[in-house]
Amino acid sequence: MTEPTTTQTGTPVASDDHSLTVGTDGVTALHDRYLVEKLAQFNRERVPERIVHAKGGGAFGTFEVTGDVSAYTRAAVFQPGTVTQTMQRFSSVAGEQGSPDTWRDVRGFSVKFYTTEGNYDIVGNNTPVFFIRDGIKFPDFIHSQKRLPGSGLRDADMQWDFWTLSPESAHQVTYLMGDRGLPRSWREMPGFGSHTYQWINAAGERFWVKYHFTSNQGNIEIDGTEAELIAGADADYYRRDLYEAIEAGNFPSWDVHVQVMPYEEGKTYRFNPFDVTKVWPHADFPLIKIGTHTLDRNPENFFAQIEQVALSPANLVPGIDASPDKMLMARIFSYPDAQRYRLGANYNQIPVNSPIAPVNNYSQDGAARHGFNSANTPVYAPNSLGGPAADPVAAGTGGWENDGELLRAAAVLRSEDSDFGQAGTLYRDVFDDAAKARFLVTITDAISGVTRPEVRERAIWYWTSVDAELGAALRSNLEAVDLVGAAE
Ligand code: HEM
Repeated sequence: MTEPTTTQTGTPVASDDHSLTVGTDGVTALHDRYLVEKLAQFNRERVPERIVHAKGGGAFGTFEVTGDVSAYTRAAVFQPGTVTQTMQRFSSVAGEQGSPDTWRDVRGFSVKFYTTEGNYDIVGNNTPVFFIRDGIKFPDFIHSQKRLPGSGLRDADMQWDFWTLSPESAHQVTYLMGDRGLPRSWREMPGFGSHTYQWINAAGERFWVKYHFTSNQGNIEIDGTEAELIAGADADYYRRDLYEAIEAGNFPSWDVHVQVMPYEEGKTYRFNPFDVTKVWPHADFPLIKIGTHTLDRNPENFFAQIEQVALSPANLVPGIDASPDKMLMARIFSYPDAQRYRLGANYNQIPVNSPIAPVNNYSQDGAARHGFNSANTPVYAPNSLGGPAADPVAAGTGGWENDGELLRAAAVLRSEDSDFGQAGTLYRDVFDDAAKARFLVTITDAISGVTRPEVRERAIWYWTSVDAELGAALRSNLEAVDLVGAAE
């Protein structure tokens, strides 16, 4: 027998179809409490979309450690043989909730590990670097990539004005305008933690690490024309691909690796190893395999489990800590703050965010609280009543030497610190000739949308600084586009 429809408090209701009215044509009664509840609840179905990475999708899975990195970290999640349940969300950065998946963009690649020592999140991208190196520029960067305040339109002038006035962006913009900017699916792209993190082993020794997720489906990209066609035909192309693959039992997986730098070498390495605009050469720091991450379960409810997931670089576990990367430090503030705003103060009690590890602390109350300490747990620390007490050994945190004047300044440049060097290497040595040709077409198209002459000129300078021949080819391409435009 069909269950009766009820109110949110479980009381059977009289009709799914008719409001309570005075006669068939009469006014609607305000005390139709089910009508009122239904409309009011509906008005509250949306929460604010993420300020960035609004469009995405995700799934659940398992991470299995097959290597042995116990010499570098004591984190339980990375000990040999450990199997941990996970959740992963993929996303694009700039587009809003309904935006097409195949617009050119960097893709988010975030994994939540439900470890026995608390939740550990790696919130990264499909590129190993980022556009800026100080969090104070992040809101400006995002404003420049989103929409003009008046027209509500995206705008090439402000995108290229920001990038070319922020030359540290060159490496990431080279990835973005290259093939990496258009993966064929989320399954067929790599992931990176991007930042340098710290690992601490059981003896308390510290190391610097970078994470790499290599796709077992391969790295497959589409070209700009195909991406535009797909964007028009199926805005949810990546979301659908992931969901359907998992439904069909075709479980995507990534091998998870780290690059490890000895702690002391961080002080003397030839460029700043904490600068998120740089990669570490594999020749100096080869990939060490930790294990394999496999996605094998679709969400049962997209809103509850994907929209409400709160992934955060602040979710660290014993044996893993931050590094002297200003971006990472800004993110450690920003994500929990965004999530308190987006999901409410008790967002970590939402099932998808709730750890399997026990939660013991003195925070209490707040909107939508449903987990609480027993009545005889004290409500303050320190206490002499046996309440939870901090344990620095269990916390397993790291740290680094730090001293100096309080100031606002860039990190001291090392011999090989340069905004354009690694961008040039990526363009010249990693892209093959066909990829170089596609790259030139992409930047020509993008920059031909710039209307301010000084921004165009600065864009030519920017790409000339990456590679002189590239800059010259761009200049002649843009002149040709202008000639065609003038002739029309
Ligand atoms: C200081 C610089 C940055 C700031 C202030 C920042 C801020 C944010 C905020 C507020 C969110 C939304 C969080 C939420 O509502 O749940 C977000 C999402 C995200 N950010 Fe950042 N971000 C920064 C840099 C980065 C970098 C460097 C990466 C990658 C290496 C990154 C990757 C992501 C991803 C993947 C998401 C989506 C997470 C999800 O799937 O829910 N962000 N960021």
